[in-house]
Amino acid sequence: MKLIAIAAVAKNRVIGKNNTLPWHLPEDLAFFKKTTMGAPVLMGRKTWDSINRPLPGRLNVVLTSNPAWAAQAPNSETPRDMVRHPHPIPAEPATRLAMCTGLPEALTWLADCERVYLIGGATLYKQAFEQGLVNELILTEIHQNFEGDAFFPDWPQHQFTEIERTHTPPTKSRAWSFDFVHYQHT
Ligand SMILES: NC(=O)c1ccc[n+]([C@@H]2O[C@H](COP(=O)([O-])OP(=O)(O)OC[C@H]3O[C@@H](n4cnc5c(N)ncnc54)[C@H](OP(=O)(O)O)[C@@H]3O)[C@@H](O)[C@H]2O)c1
Repeated sequence: MKLIAIAAVAKNRVIGKNNTLPWHLPEDLAFFKKTTMGAPVLMGRKTWDSINRPLPGRLNVVLTSNPAWAAQAPNSETPRDMVRHPHPIPAEPATRLAMCTGLPEALTWLADCERVYLIGGATLYKQAFEQGLVNELILTEIHQNFEGDAFFPDWPQHQFTEIERTHTPPTKSRAWSFDFVHYQHT
């Protein structure tokens, strides 16, 4: 299984403010959707709170220390088969919600998946880098500082090789540029 961290990061490393994204960047949301579609997405409970619904067409795995979380999760768009780990990973891409109470537990459960996207937030990225779990990193590097309260961690750049970069210049309505960058662990 490949663990692929994916994040949008400002020049000053900000990734969030008041549990939401500090910028409006539809191109990034579209890129995120296209990239992750069909694969399991792994997220912290606060990132779940900020999205507040399962991302469609993907197995949404939420990490929380609260074993009773699944019973409380908002379920307006949640399939009725929302269950606690362990349960079989769906063979077909489908909108599903599951929870795990630890990162090793989640990764063991997802071990047979070809790729799993780690979609945040700050605490999850930090743990994954510290534990050397990240195989690939896909960053939307935003060339602008933003105010915020959640930050992308200091990551071991020397252990990664940049394999792709796509630049998008500023527009009339967006003063800053951004790059989609793909890094691979060497
Ligand atoms: N720019 C981006 O690409 C991007 C992506 C994602 C998120 N964000 C932003 O990041 C911010 C959220 O990040 P955050 O760091 O505050 O929160 P987070 O990482 O999303 O969630 C933290 C929570 O996850 C659970 N958790 C974390 N590690 C765990 C572990 N090892 N075992 C069990 N549970 C674990 C805990 O939930 P319990 O408290 O329930 O135990 C913890 O409080 C928001 O502002 C969001 O908008 C930005």
